[in-house]
Amino acid sequence: MFKKCIFFITTAIILFLALVNCSKTENTEPKRIAIIGAMDSEIANLKNMLEDVEEIKIAGITYYKGKLHGKDVVLLKSGVGKVNAAVATTIAIERFNVEKIIFTGVAGSGNPNYNIADIVISKNLIEHDFDTSDIDGDDITVLVEGYNDNYYPADEELIQLAKTSAEKVITNSKVYVDTIATGDQFVGNNEKVKQIYNKFKAGAIEMEGASVAHAALMYNIPFVVIRSLSDKADSDAEVDYPKFVIQASDNSAKIVAEMIDNMN
Ligand code: ADE
Repeated sequence: MFKKCIFFITTAIILFLALVNCSKTENTEPKRIAIIGAMDSEIANLKNMLEDVEEIKIAGITYYKGKLHGKDVVLLKSGVGKVNAAVATTIAIERFNVEKIIFTGVAGSGNPNYNIADIVISKNLIEHDFDTSDIDGDDITVLVEGYNDNYYPADEELIQLAKTSAEKVITNSKVYVDTIATGDQFVGNNEKVKQIYNKFKAGAIEMEGASVAHAALMYNIPFVVIRSLSDKADSDAEVDYPKFVIQASDNSAKIVAEMIDNMN
């Protein structure tokens, strides 16, 4: 009986201490801005700018907690594609007290009038490869409760901040606020890019933005996606993309750094 009592008291104390410790960790974690890129090139320059860095590895993804221009951020490379982006975003939200999300990277243009090196800031985002029309016809399957047309709206304040920051640091290219279409496909095909543009009127085509947006909306966290165009998603993309990916990545990162510097 005495042994049982000791066992229960010890267990209760351990549980109590664990609870106190958990609540302490949550309370001391500051609010952070999550900055997400899909590839090394998209986060490289921002990683070099981070101060007081702490690295935490979860599910194979390294989360860099630190300060950028004095603001608390968590920077990460999600990996390419919608599933990687959704998992990485969800972990960031669950573990790092994220209050805003900025995605930075490159894209192919959707609009034939946009040029390589132009900037597209998300007005909204759509998953262009989600398609239930064979069973539903024109009816829409709602993917995020409350967003019935499946175009996920980015946060107005972050859009404005991204626009003013881009117009300040990008001098030789145009800055657009437009729809971004996301799918698990690298588009480098004249017919395919035309199809996506005709259906979704997207200014940029890429592989992560809408899934970051999807996860962010589910948690009600403001977000924006910034894309610098590395190619025109046409048959020249296989030549253009490797030629322009680094410069385009750096330009998008430059906009993010300017945004963070100007954030309240
Ligand atoms: N990212 C950069 N260019 C792209 C393209 N053409 N298609 C999909 N993702 C991209």
